[in-house]
Amino acid sequence: MNPARIVVLVSGSGSNLQALLDQPDLRERVVAVASDNPDATGLARAADIGIATAAVALRDHADRATWEAALADVVADAAPDLVVLAGFMKILSGAFVSRWPTVNVHPSLLPAFAGAHAPADAVAWGVKLSGVTVHYVDEQVDHGPIIAQEAVAVLPGDTAESLHARIQTVEHRLLPAVVRAICEGRVTVDGRHVTVHDPPEDPSA
Ligand code: GRF
Repeated sequence: MNPARIVVLVSGSGSNLQALLDQPDLRERVVAVASDNPDATGLARAADIGIATAAVALRDHADRATWEAALADVVADAAPDLVVLAGFMKILSGAFVSRWPTVNVHPSLLPAFAGAHAPADAVAWGVKLSGVTVHYVDEQVDHGPIIAQEAVAVLPGDTAESLHARIQTVEHRLLPAVVRAICEGRVTVDGRHVTVHDPPEDPSA
């Protein structure tokens, strides 16, 4: 079934969430936004336009398993067909990510520079190209089958911040494009190999 209902998980500013919400066809599919961070700006962006939000903070739970179970309950209540990790900075268990098709946006060309500091790691390593990866999430961090990637040049004098800013402009285009392709049933997966099919030609064009 094509995903009609999307839940987005955020931890911070939520600029990628905003990029999804800026697309009317995707906005109407986002049924809930949840966060591990009650102060996440992403939650406010969603609440402001009437989307259900929930904050499930790790510190409010006895341990990680209880926290994840509470987050899973919130997600399950929204009955999503697709979960989008848009700057969600907590690691989720294999049990969680196998429950719903889940995609993540990561600020490097995976498998290079997995982890939470990808732009800084790319600058420190001296690579000339980094970029954006949108991938399905599996039980390993920044590891699942790659759906789309786009390169971003690392420029002389770049800092982690300046590189990340240019990477984010690409994220804001690539993530909505991938989510739309999934929603339209144009993404097929064969093991690690993912194909994004072109939309059908518009006969009126
Ligand atoms: C993005 O760069 C994303 O790749 C990474 O976390 C950042 C989140 O940014 N996983 P935002 O909260 O969407 O602005």
